[in-house]
Amino acid sequence: MQVFGIGILLTALAAAIQLPLHFDPSYGSKSSSPGQAAAPLTSSTPQLSLSDVSSDQYTISTHERFAGYALRIKRTEWWCDPSVWSWTGYLDVDGGAKHMFFYFFESRRAPAEDPLLMWINGGPGCSASLGLFMELGPCKINDHGNDTIPRIESWNERANVFFLDQPVGVGFSYAEYGETVETTEDAARNVAAFVWLFMETFTEYKGREFHMAGESYGGRYLPVFASEIVDRNKRATSNGLQEINLKSVMIGNGDTDHINMYPSIYKMLCTNASLPPVLSIGECVRMKRALPRCMQMATASCVDILDELACQAAQRVCSAELEQPFFTSKINSYDMSKPCEGYGSAPEMLCYSYTARIGKYLNMNSTRKLLGVDDEVTHFSACSFEVGALFERRMDRYAPGSYFIAGLLERGVSVLIYVGVYDAICNFIANRELTERLEWHGKEAYNAEPTRPWFVDGEPAGITKGWKGLTYANVAGAGHMVPYDKPVQALAMLNRWLENRTL
Ligand SMILES: *[C@@H]1O[C@H](CO)[C@@H](O)[C@H](O)[C@H]1NC(C)=O
Ligand SMILES: *[C@@H]1O[C@H](CO)[C@@H](O)[C@H](O)[C@H]1NC(C)=O
Ligand SMILES: *[C@@H]1O[C@H](CO)[C@@H](O)[C@H](O)[C@H]1NC(C)=O
Repeated sequence: MQVFGIGILLTALAAAIQLPLHFDPSYGSKSSSPGQAAAPLTSSTPQLSLSDVSSDQYTISTHERFAGYALRIKRTEWWCDPSVWSWTGYLDVDGGAKHMFFYFFESRRAPAEDPLLMWINGGPGCSASLGLFMELGPCKINDHGNDTIPRIESWNERANVFFLDQPVGVGFSYAEYGETVETTEDAARNVAAFVWLFMETFTEYKGREFHMAGESYGGRYLPVFASEIVDRNKRATSNGLQEINLKSVMIGNGDTDHINMYPSIYKMLCTNASLPPVLSIGECVRMKRALPRCMQMATASCVDILDELACQAAQRVCSAELEQPFFTSKINSYDMSKPCEGYGSAPEMLCYSYTARIGKYLNMNSTRKLLGVDDEVTHFSACSFEVGALFERRMDRYAPGSYFIAGLLERGVSVLIYVGVYDAICNFIANRELTERLEWHGKEAYNAEPTRPWFVDGEPAGITKGWKGLTYANVAGAGHMVPYDKPVQALAMLNRWLENRTL
């Protein structure tokens, strides 16, 4: 989920420089059991089995290779998907100043063999619980917003899946001492630490196939997060750690190469590329004329050289001319086939009334207690506008994500770019062009491949093409949140991808 146009909605907050804190030796003794009922179980041996984890208090695990980090985890019994084991917890990083919340669900098929998959949402600033409850997790929220109901087409059908609220300040994740994370590169260090600590602690997952998935601003996050893991893998063995067996990155409706999305927005809104044009001819002409100026300003100050002030000015021009006409149209920018629910009255609803259920459910005291949410998080919001504003202020969006994707492909990490065709902003045109422009050894072979339809249960599900590690797939009839709109097709796509088959 993407908070768009945030740059013009919010005043920027002060930037802070990220410095790792010193490890506080008293930190490990902090009592952190949910409800503070009993002293937490502490394990300093990294070999902890998930089946040993308690359900009524946190089990805390530290690791000698990660001074200043701890993993707190508890089992969530009879919740969400009672057919599997599930856990929630926090990774406490950077000397205990930052706390990253996660949900973890075992695979419904063969947890001991199936791969491990991480899911994150975008924003920047949106919680992975949107993906969990709205799109692809093992349960949904009922109409009353007070309980969960199982989801059949969940991505834990054949993968062990964790949902990570990141960076700190998002969902149930939080920071203390005024710490913030404001760039994807900073966020990557915390995510890589999370992945390693998880694997080193729960040794049943060591060396397991690992896939990193997400959507929207995840298209900016994931290539950098995966690159951080690939680069750290080189040093892992000499540091006494096992390499992460990273197999692939899956990006849904990504915002990966932001500047190159601008021309595609015009095509989405003013041509018949997906649906008939939605804006007036007058608005479209205005957009078309503003486009060269937007591209020129943004290229010069956001990409060629990052000049934050000039880039912010460019972004204001691009946003006002290319995005605003559409945002005032009351159409759902995530799905042009639908109206924007809550338009004008509830921006936090993100054009879907469903998101209100999630907020209601996650703000119930009984839910917080069940999940073990720390008291420091007083309120759950689906998206943090503060975190979004910090990233906007640093112009994080404009980094060249395609360079990271090319780097991953050159090192054998596969990449799936999938896109619902009704999404106006993070659209299929920009994402298809991204795959064609990528500079990697397979560029010519990939571009020479024909596109073809892919099918689910004999019905066309979209258009795809691929060569070796790179696959592009669009999903017909879907908006930004592909598994929400097309759960059966999305799960079929996932299964084929995890099994290394063509779509
Ligand atoms: C949810 O709300 C409905 C309507 O108020 C109520 O009937 C039901 O018992 C509630 N369920 C739970 C689990 O609280
Ligand atoms: C728009 O595209 C649809 C589907 O490709 C096609 O059926 C329709 O004729 C097109 N409309 C115009 C005006 O070209
Ligand atoms: C939930 O917990 C908070 C903090 O303990 C308390 O102030 C609030 O009254 C509780 N809400 C309900 C509905 O019980």
